[in-house]
Amino acid sequence: SDIPAIIAYTRRTYIMNDGEIAVVKKDSIWVTDRKGNPITKKVFEVNWNAEAAEKGGYEHFMLKEIHEQPKAVRDTISPRINKENTQVVLDELKWTKEYVENFNKIYIVACGTAYHAGLVGKYYIEKLARIPVEIDIASEFRYRDPIIDEHTLTIVISQSGETSDTLAALKESKRLGAKTLAVTNVVGSSIAREADQVMYTWAGPEIAVASTKAYTTQLVAMFLFAMYISGLKGTLTAERTHELLTQLRLLPDEIGRTLEDVEPIKTFAKNYAFNDDVFYIGRSLDYNVALEGSLKLKEISYIHAEAYAAGELKHGTLALIESGVPVIAIATQKGVYEKTLSNIKEVKARDAVIIGIASEDDTELEKYVDHVIKVPSTDELLIPLLTVVPLQLLAYYAAITRGCDVDKPRNLAKSVTVE
Ligand code: G6P
Repeated sequence: SDIPAIIAYTRRTYIMNDGEIAVVKKDSIWVTDRKGNPITKKVFEVNWNAEAAEKGGYEHFMLKEIHEQPKAVRDTISPRINKENTQVVLDELKWTKEYVENFNKIYIVACGTAYHAGLVGKYYIEKLARIPVEIDIASEFRYRDPIIDEHTLTIVISQSGETSDTLAALKESKRLGAKTLAVTNVVGSSIAREADQVMYTWAGPEIAVASTKAYTTQLVAMFLFAMYISGLKGTLTAERTHELLTQLRLLPDEIGRTLEDVEPIKTFAKNYAFNDDVFYIGRSLDYNVALEGSLKLKEISYIHAEAYAAGELKHGTLALIESGVPVIAIATQKGVYEKTLSNIKEVKARDAVIIGIASEDDTELEKYVDHVIKVPSTDELLIPLLTVVPLQLLAYYAAITRGCDVDKPRNLAKSVTVE
């Protein structure tokens, strides 16, 4: 049900539609409809190479995919910004100002890591394009009778393009009259075929169950989309647009720099790999990244990990903080920086061990935390693409230390094609 499962063997595929039946023998394949009428299928050539489905010298696919992020992000960005960094060009959409202004509400619907990318997407669209966005988990959305009409746009995000709940949410949205846009990594996937329009992430095949490069490319896709509609609506000045797109272009190299010095991360992972609980805190976009960081840790290392909006700690979770509990605190968002710092102090007062994640130009955070990991400075809207990288590595090395099967964590699947 997912192309990466077979690209080590072939790139020539037939895409099966619902209700089609294939009879595969040693020397022949026939496809018919339910009544037995023959169907002539066209070969669909997958443009991923077999190498992409090999580990290429890395111990695990996950580590390889973490290291592929600079390229994946570059491939997703470069065809979509003009040379002068003044405009996002989405040839796949070709929307007009009137078309965008028809939407009074956007839903973003997804599962797992893609849902976490959606949270950031909501922030981008509301901040940059000023359209209200509601975000939901696909398995909730599909059964909750959402309020949808022809002025609604539903965006589904899915790496595989095959997740059953996300596909059902997409169909439900269409049925109720919404326009639909899929953000997916797999050309020809069910979700890509079902949606009215598609924006591809060009991450290449992702094999490890824990999603990494798909997440960062989904963030980039959401950012490009938000900039695109803000361009049509005229919500940003030319100067701010240029500034943001210039920063965006620098990101692949900055992700590369974030990947250079993994030794301290390995050490933290080793030191804390046998703790029962790890907490992640942050505010605003940092909170969204915290959610993804904690998911990575629980998925592959089986350590109980929870992410909290830092301001919410005092409403319950603070009761769980005791001496020696690791807390990972992300603090990059200027508007809420001081607030996050006071939450960090609250946690420190309970004697937690705090690893802070900050921007390179931050000289404050290190005064309040036990260790600090710095990422290159960039616009605070884009920094989630950098702060997530040490969290991916932390999860990876913690899982290795605990002897877990990183690429194939227990009880989980890469593509969830059943409910
Ligand atoms: C599974 C995977 C996750 C992924 C989620 C959604 O749970 O293990 O890594 O985030 O499905 O998958 P999708 O392909 O729709 O992005």
